[in-house]
Amino acid sequence: MQHFTMNNGADIPALGFGVFQMTSKEVEEHLPQAIAAGYTHIDTANAYFNEVAVGRAVKASGAKREDLFVTTKLFPQSYPYEQCARDIDATLERLDMDYIDLLLFHQPYGDYVSGWKAMEEAVAAGKVKSIGLSNFPVHKIRQILDVADITPAVLQVEINPYWNQHALKSELADLNLVFEGWYPLGHGDQTLLAEPVFARLADKYGKTAAQIILRWHLQEGNVTFPKTCDPQHIKDNIDIFDFALADDEMAEINALPQRPYYTVPEEAPDFVLRHNDYSQQV
Ligand SMILES: NC(=O)c1ccc[n+]([C@@H]2O[C@H](COP(=O)([O-])OP(=O)(O)OC[C@H]3O[C@@H](n4cnc5c(N)ncnc54)[C@H](OP(=O)(O)O)[C@@H]3O)[C@@H](O)[C@H]2O)c1
Repeated sequence: MQHFTMNNGADIPALGFGVFQMTSKEVEEHLPQAIAAGYTHIDTANAYFNEVAVGRAVKASGAKREDLFVTTKLFPQSYPYEQCARDIDATLERLDMDYIDLLLFHQPYGDYVSGWKAMEEAVAAGKVKSIGLSNFPVHKIRQILDVADITPAVLQVEINPYWNQHALKSELADLNLVFEGWYPLGHGDQTLLAEPVFARLADKYGKTAAQIILRWHLQEGNVTFPKTCDPQHIKDNIDIFDFALADDEMAEINALPQRPYYTVPEEAPDFVLRHNDYSQQV
């Protein structure tokens, strides 16, 4: 497994297993398959309502905790400083783990400025190893930096060949963030997977279109965690370390027309303001 090094000196596995929109039953079935196939990195969130299953599946896999890299995320209801400290403890309880490798603020709304202090205190207490942000625009990242002692280690945003985020990466280059890409395969968009450039490169390298896209991510420096419940895709998605795309092939992929699948609104949408009860795992 290839790793990237974050701005705090810690390593992060370049490829992981994302469990967004997986039921607890699916997590308990497929996460041990992924770990057996060689995945060491898991991406979940409070708002995926499957952290209890992630904890169980990790135990069932027989993997040592220190050999895994577990990311989870807090939703805005958890950001106010005192609430944040409590909800980090509740998250650890649901996962049944002593520490979280990477904890993110999931959405850029609410009291993320006061909460960042609680995130830093969780790092000092050894409950969390690294902290970062997801879906935050530049101006909200800078609000956190104004009060931060710890610079976010990662920014998790939509990244795929239709939205390569080169502009955002340039704008934030001074922070030396690791970029993590959600919707790495376009959330399963068949139009993306059927782009002729991927078919041609798949044929050349003896890979699938999805593997070409995941290899492009790796060479772009993006951490990804494609989601799949298909045992063959679980194996395929981690089988991307034995070939390399040439510079002109990377450039051809980066020349695809750019548009995001989802634009993160400036004001909180309704689904983010809803109060979640995480004791109700699905
Ligand atoms: N921070 C955020 O706001 C945020 C938002 C969205 C996602 N995420 C994270 O990013 C992860 C991935 O995002 P996502 O699940 O939305 O989208 P994705 O990984 O881009 O796409 C998942 C889809 O791709 C298909 N797929 C996977 N491997 C494939 C392969 N080898 N060949 C063909 N199809 C394949 C899957 O179907 P099969 O099951 O049939 O393989 C599924 O329909 C999530 O699980 C989550 O961890 C974070």
